[in-house]
Amino acid sequence: MAALRFLYDCDPGADDALAMLLALGRPDALDMIAVTCVAGNVGLEPVVNNARRILELCGRQDIPVYSGAARPIMASRGRLSIMHGSDGLAGSTLPKPTMPLADGHAANAVSRIARSEGKLHICATGPLTNLALALLLDPDLPDFISAITIMGGAAFCPGNTTPLAEFNFAVDPHAAAIVFDSCIPITMLGLDVTRQATVTEDMIGQVQAIDNPVAREAAHLLINYGAKDPCLHDPAAIAWMLKPEMFDTKQAHVSISTDSGPAAGQVIAAVSERHLDGRSPNCAIVTGVDAEEFRRVFVDALN
Ligand code: RIB
Ligand code: CA
Repeated sequence: MAALRFLYDCDPGADDALAMLLALGRPDALDMIAVTCVAGNVGLEPVVNNARRILELCGRQDIPVYSGAARPIMASRGRLSIMHGSDGLAGSTLPKPTMPLADGHAANAVSRIARSEGKLHICATGPLTNLALALLLDPDLPDFISAITIMGGAAFCPGNTTPLAEFNFAVDPHAAAIVFDSCIPITMLGLDVTRQATVTEDMIGQVQAIDNPVAREAAHLLINYGAKDPCLHDPAAIAWMLKPEMFDTKQAHVSISTDSGPAAGQVIAAVSERHLDGRSPNCAIVTGVDAEEFRRVFVDALN
């Protein structure tokens, strides 16, 4: 079967970088055709640098990187995460990037690439600002997107940024609302499942035993990011695309709160007939994972 062609929208960020290493380690199954960057974990400049640093580490300078939104749609500035270090890659020693940025804004690139592909799969693991802008710029865009696999949200568990909201959706709740209102089929890997997708000492040991520069960077990220947050949030989204049978899902109608205060970015998941109230589900919420199998898939991809 041909590899799944997809566009990766991200805010690297250590776990986004680990997600890239996972995806790029499986060219048999995944074909990352473009990377679009959004401010999130760190500001836009380190994000676009980090995306290129990872691509160059993997010898994939052929993949275009587009710069995108430097701030959320409505807030005057984002909410940086303290988990990834000031450079966004937990103090990585990777060299500064040399490959150029691709021309044009990420939102325009999403629209153009989707239209040229005809039916584009998108994986998004940062605030959804670029995708929301693309949808506002190009109202027919949903006709050219097959599905969006999202790391974000917290449907049936507390948030990690406010008690009610997960980081990606809390940073730009309006963008998340626009994307979930788009009628594009969505698979949402929120904290419900990513808190189960954790790094272990055994996994780190296995990665450290792999003698190649990619695995060495992965070990650095797993150790240094994992010390602050052991949850492999963004790699879980890539793992879903690789092996969905490792996961459990629940169909729901999801909307996103754009209220101000702690509810900003909250996932409102309607599952029961009463809660659906005549609406059809618009999202598969991922609720569980075979964590051992997930870790095995990750380690194997680094070999
Ligand atoms: O809540 C975790 C998510 O927020 C991850 O995507 C992490 O990279 C940050 O963007
Ligand atoms: Ca991220």
